[in-house]
Amino acid sequence: MTEIEYLGHSAFAIREGGKEVLVDPFLSDNPKAPLSASDVRPDLILVTHAHHDHLGDALHLSKRFGCPVLSVSEINDHLDEMGARVLQGNIGGEIQLSFCRVKMFPAVHSSSFEDGRYGGEPCSFLIEMGGRTVFHAGDTALFSDLSLVADEADIDMALLPVGGTYTMGVKEAVKAMRLLRARIMVPMHYDTWKSIAVDRQVLESAVRGERFSLKVMAPGERLVI
Ligand code: NI
Ligand code: MN
Repeated sequence: MTEIEYLGHSAFAIREGGKEVLVDPFLSDNPKAPLSASDVRPDLILVTHAHHDHLGDALHLSKRFGCPVLSVSEINDHLDEMGARVLQGNIGGEIQLSFCRVKMFPAVHSSSFEDGRYGGEPCSFLIEMGGRTVFHAGDTALFSDLSLVADEADIDMALLPVGGTYTMGVKEAVKAMRLLRARIMVPMHYDTWKSIAVDRQVLESAVRGERFSLKVMAPGERLVI
């Protein structure tokens, strides 16, 4: 039974068989992080890009729990130097662990560390765990190659940014869903700050008549996929 928990912004925990995959662990400074965020026990941390609202607590959590982090080479190398455990990987590559399979895809965005250093290319993750497939799009604009992700797997759930301003907005996320052919859309990267506020009604009317279902998760909410 695969379970997903929304930790606010773009942070999610996916759990199955006592294992936990944590994506974009922006928890300490995240105004939307639920109380349960302090309960994470990651076995693997995935980071889509170096912006602080995604890299978040990755270093701290990796050191604390001794769990590996996977991202693009520039972020892997940076975290490795800082004393984290890292896996080697980059966009286009795939890693197979005992409890999950992760494939890295591109995202159309930018990526830099807080000090301004280049963070490599941003990415997205296709995650297979417990027979379910979740796609975490990272921060991205709409681009047609999202359809290549759909060629790779039947996606049960797509986690898509909808906040606009820094990423695609609601309208583009609906188009992305058509390219991804995923069963369920979960919006992310919105309402954390005023600059990415999204009206729930706008979301609901945008998906009316579409083939997929919309699941708006509240921070702290858990769902069995
Ligand atoms: Ni970003
Ligand atoms: Mn972001």
